[in-house]
Amino acid sequence: MNNTPIPLLIDTDPGVDDALAILMAFADAQHQVVGLTVTAGNVGLGHTVANALKLCEVAGREDVPVFAGCATPLLHPSPDAADVHGADGFGDVGLAPAARHAESEHAAQAIIRLSHQYAGRLLLVALGPLTNIALALRLDPTLPERIARLVVMSGAVNGRGNITPYAEFNAYFDPEAAHIVFGAFAQFDVADWEATLAHGIAHAQVDEWCAADTPQARFYDAISRKTRAWARQGRGEHWHSADALAMAYALQPELAETASHALHVELHGAARGMTLVDWQGLGARPANARILLRYRQQQLEQKMRQAILGECKVIES
Ligand code: RIB
Ligand code: CA
Repeated sequence: MNNTPIPLLIDTDPGVDDALAILMAFADAQHQVVGLTVTAGNVGLGHTVANALKLCEVAGREDVPVFAGCATPLLHPSPDAADVHGADGFGDVGLAPAARHAESEHAAQAIIRLSHQYAGRLLLVALGPLTNIALALRLDPTLPERIARLVVMSGAVNGRGNITPYAEFNAYFDPEAAHIVFGAFAQFDVADWEATLAHGIAHAQVDEWCAADTPQARFYDAISRKTRAWARQGRGEHWHSADALAMAYALQPELAETASHALHVELHGAARGMTLVDWQGLGARPANARILLRYRQQQLEQKMRQAILGECKVIES
């Protein structure tokens, strides 16, 4: 068995659920996080970059370079999700800024450079709007040839949205970027909002993990407290972490039940940002999206627990 870790590049808009997903990646011995490329989304780029740097500092991963990307969607301005994540994106708990700064290289350029450095092996996971990846594709249309696998947290495959009645936040924030990315990659993996809703975790369980006596648990308890209270009030006794599910799918796809269908994003009108799936294969579009239907819930929760507690990586001998 090849024990060389899989190089993993995460494009992200941290964001409380992004933070959990990134901690899951840090805790996984089979993957090596080679960078965080950051976009605006949940909150503005200044906050998402600061949050990415802070997360690396808390997790002891200041070896991971952070690259600032696009501050706005490609064409049209969109609302953020500060009501969910806090104005600063990390629960408004007044965290001291990280000592480190982001790299000078733009995220889109870093995506291209790292795709060459790890050509054919790079796992690219997108946890936010797809603006950086779309810009990278405009700069270098050959990018998909060097990406081993693209996993995106995006969309609502049956139109059950979370930012409009029909559209999920990441797709809605920059649907033109999603259109470019979905059209450029012949195959990609999708963890959507409806799959997220089907994989909720009991608040009581998350509270227990966050009460652990570890620095990482205390950090995650602090940044997630606001959004967990918001979710408890609005969505009941289960918490839903979209990016954590997407990262679990990325880290261990063999634990997922999937179906491949043609998926595209609507750009106009009331359905703007809606992800349309040809479930019956009646259209002419190729089946480009491997859609997550079910993931092993127990293993999902094990990954989340390990990430929150900050248990060390188990490095196989
Ligand atoms: O709709 C959920 C997605 O939007 C998650 O990635 C969350 O972090 C926000 O970016
Ligand atoms: Ca996100």
